[in-house]
Amino acid sequence: MAVQISPSILSADFARLADEAARVPNADWLHVDVMDNHFVPNLTLGLPVVEALLKATSTPIDCHLMITDPDRWAPAYAEAGAGSVTVHVEAAKAPIRTLRQIRAAGARAGLALNPATAVEPYEDLLGEIDMLLLMTVEPGFGGQKFLDVVLPKIRRARSLIERHGGQVWLQVDGGVAADTIERCAEAGADVFVAGSAVYGAADPALAIDRLRELAATHLG
Ligand code: DX5
Ligand code: ZN
Repeated sequence: MAVQISPSILSADFARLADEAARVPNADWLHVDVMDNHFVPNLTLGLPVVEALLKATSTPIDCHLMITDPDRWAPAYAEAGAGSVTVHVEAAKAPIRTLRQIRAAGARAGLALNPATAVEPYEDLLGEIDMLLLMTVEPGFGGQKFLDVVLPKIRRARSLIERHGGQVWLQVDGGVAADTIERCAEAGADVFVAGSAVYGAADPALAIDRLRELAATHLG
């Protein structure tokens, strides 16, 4: 397993997104939080901004859709060229169809679970996805405190993934920073979203290197 770091532009300067993308040349992905003010109590950006970002950076885009109707909107992000598109199980009404449409459009398909959503009911969907995203804060805002209560679920998710061949990436998102990333890696996560820990640092690229080193010491 290789450590991947996906800095969240939610903590970047929205007026200078191309420059902010350029500040993290060592990022594996650029994490883009799409929020619709319905699924979560916050409003960010949508498809036109993702399309503009795709032209402005060669770093693959990791779209995290926190919207009420992902079945309707997710395929368009994949068709636009996002490398990965993740939908929430709490919002999707036809997750299997939507995940298949994301893959058919050439993107990696991700399934996200809120902190209080159990992973076990989704075991049979592991063959439909390329990444499982476990939220480690309630979705909606950057800069929140990491929820340790999710750690046992990360461990159980890692076991399920290994039982199914180990191909699915396990992403954590929320409160991931130098003081929490090791716990996540030790529990079995391999893709780490970090917003404030990267863009709140004086040198975002250096912050990524440090997070990567910390996580790597715990990954098998
Ligand atoms: C929260 C978003 C996260 C957010 C993480 O709902 O999904 O991607 O940007 O921010 P930090 O790393 O500051 O908790
Ligand atoms: Zn996110």
